[in-house]
Amino acid sequence: MHTILVTGGLGFIGSHTVVALQEQGYEVVIIDNLSNTRLSVLDGITAITGKKPIYYNIDLKEKVAITPVFKNHQIAGVIHFAASKAVGESVEKPLLYYQNNLTSLVNLLQVMLENNCSNIIFSSSCTVYGQADALPITETAPIKPAESPYGNTKQIGEEILFDTTKVTALKAIALRYFNPIGAHKSVLIGELPLGVPQNLIPFVTQTAAGIRAELSVFGDDYPTIDGTAVRDYIHVVDLAKAHVKAVERLITKKQNDAFEVFNVGTGKGSSVLEVIKAFEKASNTKLNYKIVGRRAGDITSAYADTTKANKVLGWKAHLSLEEALASAWEWQLKQE
Ligand code: UD1
Repeated sequence: MHTILVTGGLGFIGSHTVVALQEQGYEVVIIDNLSNTRLSVLDGITAITGKKPIYYNIDLKEKVAITPVFKNHQIAGVIHFAASKAVGESVEKPLLYYQNNLTSLVNLLQVMLENNCSNIIFSSSCTVYGQADALPITETAPIKPAESPYGNTKQIGEEILFDTTKVTALKAIALRYFNPIGAHKSVLIGELPLGVPQNLIPFVTQTAAGIRAELSVFGDDYPTIDGTAVRDYIHVVDLAKAHVKAVERLITKKQNDAFEVFNVGTGKGSSVLEVIKAFEKASNTKLNYKIVGRRAGDITSAYADTTKANKVLGWKAHLSLEEALASAWEWQLKQE
């Protein structure tokens, strides 16, 4: 069976993808520098699948450290998650984000090509669309100027891949994620936000658990169903499976173009108040929240048109918002 290298394989989406790959019979090699996760995630993965992935503690900014991984293993494809992802921090520390997210990508691509590995899946984001002019958002929607250095690293990352596929053997798929949430049903792996969560769901679960006093709902004057902003929340287990489909497409050479992009979402938009209601139902708790002003840089509404992923990748999200929120709550209850 093929061996897949997963960078950032101990992170939130990475760990769920490692599980999905192992369940399909792939051998997995992980690179992770533990900058935003814990080594114990490796035990969680092993407990779920019964198979310990090979793990290297490597920082992708060090190119010389990457080469031995490709010498030691016959890597059929790479799924590249390793990156910094805090929007606010990226505004404070732009150079850190450009260095971390772009140097790593360039190093990885160089080592891949030097070792005749030409298949890469890239973690992109719906953030590249900004506030799209039409909903649901298709892959042909124009790319809008990035709201943050983090968002810009995703746009530039896609451009680096596109330019490289034009002149080398490289084949790339960028998956543009909408809002990933939830945890594996075993609750042996999940999201591990450091410090005060910036994203909605970890803040909701921490508030329900009494770690945070109150959730602030950022704005109720948006032109949406109830005035709160709308997003497409996708269960991380569904999202992980999209990566397996994408890597299969590359390995079996089914691509139409050397660089392809796919939206990965559910296709359904939910407002913040709808999420709160669904969470209260799924967790059988009452959430303490108040409406405050809008958060700078937030858009009104984003949800995916998933037709391309459905038809071309043969992938579809199956798990509901309620299931995702219930798993996020189970996971929260397990944390100390
Ligand atoms: C954010 C990032 C996006 C990134 C994504 C995944 C911004 C502007 N965008 O998306 O680039 O790809 O995370 O990590 O940060 N909300 C509240 N109260 C809270 C937290 C959030 O009301 O305490 C609201 C937000 O205003 C938004 C929704 O919940 O309407 C979702 O927020 P969040 O989880 O941060 O995701 P995005 O902002 O969509």
